[in-house]
Parts: sequence; structure tokens; C-alpha cells
Amino acid sequence: MKFFGRPFAAALVIALFVACTPVPLPAQRAAVEAPHGLVVSANHLASDAGVEILRKGGNAVDAAVATGLALAVVYPYAGNLGGGGFMLIHLAPGGPGSGPDGRDLVIDYRETAPAAATKNMYVGPDGKLIAGAGSSTVGWRASGIPGSVAGFALALQKYGSGKVTWADVVEPARRLAADGHTVSQWTAASIRRFAPLLAPFAESKKIFLKDGAFLATGDHWVQPDLAATLARLQQHGPREFYEGETARRIAAAMAQHGGTLTLGDLEHYRVAERTPLRGAYRGYEIVTMPPPSSGGIALLQMFGMLEPFEVGALGSTSAAKYHLFAEVMKRAFRDRAEYLGDPAFVQVPVARLLDPAYLKRRMADYSPEHATPASAVPPGLGQFVAPAAPESTETTHFSVVDAAGNAVANTYTLNGAYGSGVTIPGTGILMNNEMDDFTSRVGVPNSYGLIQGEANAIVPGKRPLSSMTPTFVLKDHHVVLVTGSPGGPTIINTVLQVISNVIDFRMPVQQAVDAPRINQQWMPDVITYERYGLSDDTVAALRARGQALRERSDDDGTTQGEAETIAIDPKTGLRLGAPDPRRMDAKAAGY
Ligand code: DON
Repeated sequence: MKFFGRPFAAALVIALFVACTPVPLPAQRAAVEAPHGLVVSANHLASDAGVEILRKGGNAVDAAVATGLALAVVYPYAGNLGGGGFMLIHLAPGGPGSGPDGRDLVIDYRETAPAAATKNMYVGPDGKLIAGAGSSTVGWRASGIPGSVAGFALALQKYGSGKVTWADVVEPARRLAADGHTVSQWTAASIRRFAPLLAPFAESKKIFLKDGAFLATGDHWVQPDLAATLARLQQHGPREFYEGETARRIAAAMAQHGGTLTLGDLEHYRVAERTPLRGAYRGYEIVTMPPPSSGGIALLQMFGMLEPFEVGALGSTSAAKYHLFAEVMKRAFRDRAEYLGDPAFVQVPVARLLDPAYLKRRMADYSPEHATPASAVPPGLGQFVAPAAPESTETTHFSVVDAAGNAVANTYTLNGAYGSGVTIPGTGILMNNEMDDFTSRVGVPNSYGLIQGEANAIVPGKRPLSSMTPTFVLKDHHVVLVTGSPGGPTIINTVLQVISNVIDFRMPVQQAVDAPRINQQWMPDVITYERYGLSDDTVAALRARGQALRERSDDDGTTQGEAETIAIDPKTGLRLGAPDPRRMDAKAAGY
């Protein structure tokens, strides 16, 4: 009888009370709401750094710069001073520097090839690509000229609010490096995983591997060299990185270890300002990244190919939808391989690739029942012919929206996780391995399995072709979605699926980010899907159509991308932050 005694009765009452209380508990995670401004990034301390600047009266650009610099300290996996990227900026209608319809612009701070770079610099005497040290992926020869510091500085100077200074936006990063931060489980595990890359380089081994003792979850991690570098930048301004002591240290270390970067390369690095690409999808405007990223063109091509189909009626997880998306991806990535490169060095046929009539023709051989083999997808505009002479052309994404409606979508990178593995002695700066985004050899896949063409060959001063796709979705000139992702070529397909989830399937933004993703990039001719992402019968139905499929493994990470996204409710103006669950430390911080 004890079983039916008083404790049991009390528990029953509580259970019934809980069961009957009409609290609308969400079955799925809700986005983070903020009335004024929001920063969503891969690391909570970096998101907080952005909000600190917003609260000081800074705008979205000021906050983005502070977030980017803080990520270089707390997220060395991809945040950086020694890499590069793209910042897409929306200036709200009627605001400073804007017009009645608002203004969108791009700051391209992509790395460029050093003066000493040559087309075949990664091909060995045996005609094969060099592997390991000296290659396009590892060590001192793998780096392009870093653009991050110059890009952030230009963004702040031209499009910042003017209410906060360069020293103000550097401060949160400097503080995090000087005072230290608590190492997260994610950071500890990720550094351990990439220990084989970092260990051969003494400075990286000392800082990131603590000479073999490893950083553990919960450790207090102070980075004095990086703090000193940030303090120098704060004191002497951003040119210090390119002309001052930091530049001299980079050049000296490169010279000592057989690297290609010189002081002259650093001095001559220039940021480019570009006009974003604009396209439409089902009544929404898509504003996205132009060359030297392939992302915007491929994204708009895919939306153009999807537009005639009733995508929403297919169901967001049906085999029919995945089949259609895979076929569209295959065709866009075939064109990417053929025509895309730095527009300062090759003529990219942008208008022809985005012509609706062309995109309709491109899908003329599409069958809802049968996969088109990748080998049977030709480049849609005929073979690329390289112009005779130049005409004159691990990543992370964060999104920021401020109280005035300005927005920033920023994707920047060291390329691979922890870049080339090299840290410049005495500076705490990890260097990129962006040279691997060039075509090292036509027809030979790079580290993302991408087969690339002549248009993306190495030339001094040229920017390697990218897939980074920071993107806005607009309705009536106002931003309704800010998104982007890391993931090499999968970036473009991640962005496609997040936006389609919102527009075609009317998903709330957090569910649009959480939903499983697929990737098809022409070659290899296979659809990869996230672990647990597709049901067995969906996989079987796709195989029956002739698609090859592979579940992502531990080798390539079991998930695809990290789409740190913000939506703005057009009716209420409420900002909705959707951190991607694929990064444990991601956070939407708002006020
Ligand atoms: O620019 C690009 O396309 C590549 N360097 C991006 C690399 C990347 O996203 C790695 N992250 N997982």
C-alpha cells in the first residue's frame, strides 16, 4: 500500500497539474527574439562582442567588425586575422549613405595570390600535385595575402556609424585575448582533432596544443601574442598589419621558412568594393555575392531553374524534391567549374549565365524520374576559352541586424580548419591556405573534391574562386532574411536550402536552419546527406531514380554547413535569430 501513499499522490497531482497547464511549449526550438539588434555567430563570446558595440551606438557594420575580430580570438578554427572573406552590407532605406530604396554593397577582402605565385607552383617534378608541406593546403607556401584586417577597416571607415572608433571595435577582441576566455568543449575537441595539422609548426604547437599538453574544456586560455598584435592594431591602426611590425614579422617568418608572401605583397594588398548580384525568387529579391565568388551566380542560377516548378507542393523532405534539387545543383556546379574565376582576370559571362531563357534551356533535359549522369551535363554555354591576356580579374558566417534596419552578412575564412597550420611567431596569427581554392591542376580535385578549370588558374594578384555566399532576401526593399554558411562548395547548396525552406515551405527561420541538408556539386557525381538526414525509403526512392547517395561520415563531418541566420518579421519588425545547432557554441545575442 505504501506505493499508493502520500508521496505518490502528491506526484500524481503535480503530474496532472503539469499535464493540464495550458502553457504552449514549443515542440521545436524557437528563434531568439530581439526588438532592436541581433548578432548570430558561431561563438557566443563573439556574438556578445557585437552586441556590446551595438549598445554603444554602433551600427550593424561596426558590430560586424567587432564580431569578426573577436572570432579570430575565440574561434581560431575559422575566425581570423590571417585570412579573408566577403562582407555584404545593406544600408536601410532613408538612412545615412543610402537612398529611398536602401543600398546594398559588397566589401571583397578575399586573399590574393602573392607576386611570386606561378600557375604550376604546386605541381612537382613528377607532374603530380605536391602533398604535405609545400602544398597548396599545408605549410608556408599555402597562403594567399590576407585581407581580413583591410576589409574590416574599410567597412568601418566607409559604412560604420562614426559613433565608435577602430580602437573601440578592436577592444573586445583584445580583451578576450589578453584576459583570456574559457575553452569550450567544442574548441577543445576541434583543436585535438586538427592536432596533426598544427603539430609540425612550432609556434602553432606551442599556442594551440600547449606543446602536447592540449587545451581542455573549461581551461582559462590567455593568448598574449595575439593580444599584443591586437593592441598594436588598436594603437597604430589597421595599416600596421600591412606595413608595421606585424607585417615585418609575417614577411620575416615567410622568408625563413620558404614561404611565398613578402612585405611587398602585404603593402600592395587592396580590398575591392563590388556591386552585389540581384535576382528574384517567387516575389522575393535575392541580393548575393558576385565573382570572385561562384556562390551568388550558382545560387541565382538554381533559383532560376527552380522557379517554374511548384516546389512547395513537393513536400520539404520528399524524394521528388531532393531529386529536383540535386539535378539543379549538378547543372549549376557544371557551369561553375567551367566559367567562373576572378573577374579582374577572366571574363565571366554573368548575364548569360543568369538569363532566364538560358536557365529554362538548361533544364530541358530534366526528368523527374531519372538522374542525368554528371558526365552527361555539358557546360551550358560551350567550352570556356581563356582570354589571351588579363583584361585589366574553414570558414565561418555571421549575421548582424541593427535597430535602424541595416544588415551585414559576413563570411570569412582561413579556407581549411586552422588554415595552413602555420602561426606567425610572436603574433598569434594563424595563416590561411586559400591558395588551394585556385585550380592547382586542371582536372584534379582540390581538398573539397572540386574539379576546376582554366578560368581559376593561379596568377599573381588574382583572387581564388570562392563559394562563399553571404546573402540577403528582401521584400519591398527591406531585409527579411540574412544568411550564409561555411562548407566550401556545400555553402551554396546550404544557402539555397535555407532560403527555399523559408520561401517554398514557409518554415519558421529556426526550423529552416535546423532542417537536414543535401549536397550535389556535379563532380563527384553523388548526393551527400547529413547523418540521420534522409529516411531509408527516401534514399531508396532516390537510388531508384539513378542518383548515387552517401551519408556524410566522420571524415567529412557528419553535418553540412553552419547557417547563422537572422529573419526580420516584416509586420512587426521583430528580429529573429537562428543559431545553427551544428555549432555547439553558436549564439544569437540581441537587445
Ligand atoms: O572560399 C571558399 O569557397 C572556401 N575557401 C571556403 C572554405 C570553407 O567554407 C571551409 N569551411 N568549412
